[in-house]
Amino acid sequence: MYQRILEICKRRGITYPSFEIYGGLSGFYDYGPVGSRIKQNIENLIRNSYVIDEGCMEVECPVLSPQDVWIASGHVENFTDKLTECVKCGEPYRADHLVEETVGEGCDHMSISELNENIKELDIKCPKCGGKLDRVYDYNLMFKTYVGPGKYKVSSYLRPETAQSTYISFKRLWDVGRKRLPLGAIQIGHSFRNEISPRKGMVRLREFNQAEVQFFVDPEVKETPRFGEVSSWEVELRDRVDREYKATLEDLLDDGVIKIQLIAYFLGKSLNLFRSMGIDPKLLRLRQHKDDERAFYSTDTWDIEYMSPSLGRIELVGVSDRTDYDLTQHMKLSGENMQVTRDGRKFTPHVIEVAYGIDRPFYCVIESCFREAEDRTFFSLPPDIAPYKVAVFPLVRKDNIPEKARDVYSLLGGERIMAFYDRSGSIGKRYARADEIGIPYCITVDYDTLEDDTVTIRYRDSKKQERILIGDIISHI
Ligand code: GLY
Repeated sequence: MYQRILEICKRRGITYPSFEIYGGLSGFYDYGPVGSRIKQNIENLIRNSYVIDEGCMEVECPVLSPQDVWIASGHVENFTDKLTECVKCGEPYRADHLVEETVGEGCDHMSISELNENIKELDIKCPKCGGKLDRVYDYNLMFKTYVGPGKYKVSSYLRPETAQSTYISFKRLWDVGRKRLPLGAIQIGHSFRNEISPRKGMVRLREFNQAEVQFFVDPEVKETPRFGEVSSWEVELRDRVDREYKATLEDLLDDGVIKIQLIAYFLGKSLNLFRSMGIDPKLLRLRQHKDDERAFYSTDTWDIEYMSPSLGRIELVGVSDRTDYDLTQHMKLSGENMQVTRDGRKFTPHVIEVAYGIDRPFYCVIESCFREAEDRTFFSLPPDIAPYKVAVFPLVRKDNIPEKARDVYSLLGGERIMAFYDRSGSIGKRYARADEIGIPYCITVDYDTLEDDTVTIRYRDSKKQERILIGDIISHI
């Protein structure tokens, strides 16, 4: 299935590996004309769900920041993977992945000495040439660069997460947001990680897209009046001691498995978001990070994972309690005071972070919505996600039919409905093209249209067709 999906994605301008004519570069993918629309729709669903529904502000900051930012955040010291290289052919490997291939899941938290011991005891060799593997060492995942020339150059890094640039402007947001907590800020944009050996196509990229929400809260109020909207939902989960079961979000909170109500709320909200994107909810589950696996800045982290039939488990969002770690670190290094005063108390706000990948949900939407029937393949994308909402076809390219079809196209455009005009090939071929980019409705203008102003509307999933008046198209769809 994976290969068939990739083939359609390339052929239909959805996604394809970058730099293809130069042989490609692992970890980089292009969004084509169709894929960019789907991606924007996924981003907008997340954006609206936080900016409109939760009252978050949206910010956009540079993708590159001076070294001090990453020293303060801890990334220069801690944002590493364990690397080993073959002494014979030089092939690099993530040491935990190599050990995992022999002993099974759960090696991503092993220390360097544990990994070295395992590689020695299990006699793990280079999978490519059978050569001996070198000692494991910490490899920093950030891309380093310099801003400016000569003696004025400033050591900098491409950001590995959007979060830090949101934190360092906290004081500005605090003023703009009228000094109120909770204060939510979302940033949608590119981040960069120099992964050791990216595999699984779009699931592990070196340049990737994120939508990260930082919810600044009073440390004594990590709650929301909206929890009732999701509290009774039953979820599948694996907790931090590897127990797998089903429970409601409310029970998980009452039993202390999820410690913070806001985390439970954002997990429920995210499950709902993924479902509305078209991701199969039966393949979603929660996973709590183990104590020795959590990122250095977090006291509790939960992921929502998608169990992909072709690629295994894929992390779609991480919800973390980052406490006052980041703001405190930036206060120390920059000297800027980011404390606030509330009800006579002076404190540093805590942050609950909801960090969505965009490329991973994108792939999971595509995979979940992929349908294969005897006579066709199609993507059953929800209309909100579909790249175009309607395809408009003139039956023939003569007798005033293209002009009439253009009128229908303009009618849709006037209502700001994204339509796709297609006049080439047989109607059957045009339906196939529309199906393979997930367009939910196709409208055909024919000779009857010239007589009675009706068109044929065809529904992607059922292939059913009916006749409707041009004047009814907008209300109908
Ligand atoms: N900001 C969290 C992450 O990038 O995973």
